Amino acid sequence: MLTREENELLCRVGPDTPMGAMLREYWTPAARSGALEADGAPMRVRLLGENFIAFRATDGRVGFFDEGCPHRCTSLALARNEDNALTCIFHGWKIDVSGKVVDVPSEPPERRAEFAAKVRVRHYPVREAGGMVWVYLGKREQPPRFPEFEFNTLPPSHVEARRALVHYNWVQGLEAHIDSSHLGILHRGWANQNRPGGGQRDLVLAATDTGPRFELDVTPYGLREGALRDGGNGTTYARIRQIVLPYFTFIPGNAQSPCSGRATVPVDDEWDAEWYILYDPNRPLRPEFAQYLWQNTNDNRDNFAADLGGWDNVWHQDRRMMKEGHWSGFGRNIPFEDFTVEEAMGPLVDRSREYLGSSDTILIRTRRLLMDAVRAYAAGKPAPWQSDDIDYGKIRALAISYPKGQSWRDLDIINEFTRSGV
Ligand code: FES
Ligand SMILES: [Fe+2]
Repeated sequence: MLTREENELLCRVGPDTPMGAMLREYWTPAARSGALEADGAPMRVRLLGENFIAFRATDGRVGFFDEGCPHRCTSLALARNEDNALTCIFHGWKIDVSGKVVDVPSEPPERRAEFAAKVRVRHYPVREAGGMVWVYLGKREQPPRFPEFEFNTLPPSHVEARRALVHYNWVQGLEAHIDSSHLGILHRGWANQNRPGGGQRDLVLAATDTGPRFELDVTPYGLREGALRDGGNGTTYARIRQIVLPYFTFIPGNAQSPCSGRATVPVDDEWDAEWYILYDPNRPLRPEFAQYLWQNTNDNRDNFAADLGGWDNVWHQDRRMMKEGHWSGFGRNIPFEDFTVEEAMGPLVDRSREYLGSSDTILIRTRRLLMDAVRAYAAGKPAPWQSDDIDYGKIRALAISYPKGQSWRDLDIINEFTRSGV
């Protein structure tokens, strides 16, 4: 439970809020690389409560500007995109991909160059990695270190990122990803061997043992958590997840999807961009991995939840299916079950009304870390979770079995893949 004030501090992300100011200090996924075509239509991007445009210039570079034209603020999403520049259709001001105004044809010819040199366009540094365009919206002259996660260093054939736009605050998205205790309950329909993609060992175990023991470590990048269950035959089965604050969660892979990451990125206070990143460190992604995760979604990779539904149709919940044995009545895919329960809380849930239990420990710890961080940042301290000793490439979630009596923290494989400065 949080007070109303704490909840506001945690959730509000506009440019004048403490959390909004801190989140602008991180490299943030903003658009799918594949959605931007050279000389194609600029894309409107709403991020952290502000509107931007992203476009791919003639030579392939990506530009990222405030949406409003610097002249009289019409949308640059309508602009012509050619000659490595955007040209506003209203009065023809031309801004090159680096954010420099290069022509102002509405001014008298003799003063155009001088006038253009004075106009400032708010533009932002971008990087492309992992199939995404990343942007830095913060105030620092030099952007922070780029998070070289494993998926950010793989060739395009090994990674696929898709986005869903969902109607809830970003903290609800983050909390759905870090809350491991719902796995064997909400998603138990997927433990059934007869369903497509079902029968995964982790889901079967989670559905039979819904109250795992959790062990949590605070790390330089956020948190890592082991959810420990009896694996049978004298073994412990551990699902080790990684939470890289403020946006990322890494979920252990299985036979269907070798590795996956999630990012929950605030669009504004009431909308969230949920990024699902599938990757295989060793070989090109096999199509069945994507089919498993995104089955029964539309083909829109920029919003695979476009037909998720809402209260009008109760997100397509199927009561007959529930009577016949399916738990949730949401039989399309696993992400839609998560999106639905989060949307059904309302767009910005009031955490002063909750009643938390011991299985919510990770939520409580994460909220505390975020609130301590935002207060410290507002008091002049640097934004956390960006230190030089983080080895981003080694942050990977794992699901493993080992003999009872040992600790997952001592296993070689854990120390290879999850240690990263612990
Ligand atoms: S509003 Fe864009 S050139 Fe005038
Ligand atoms: Fe879930």
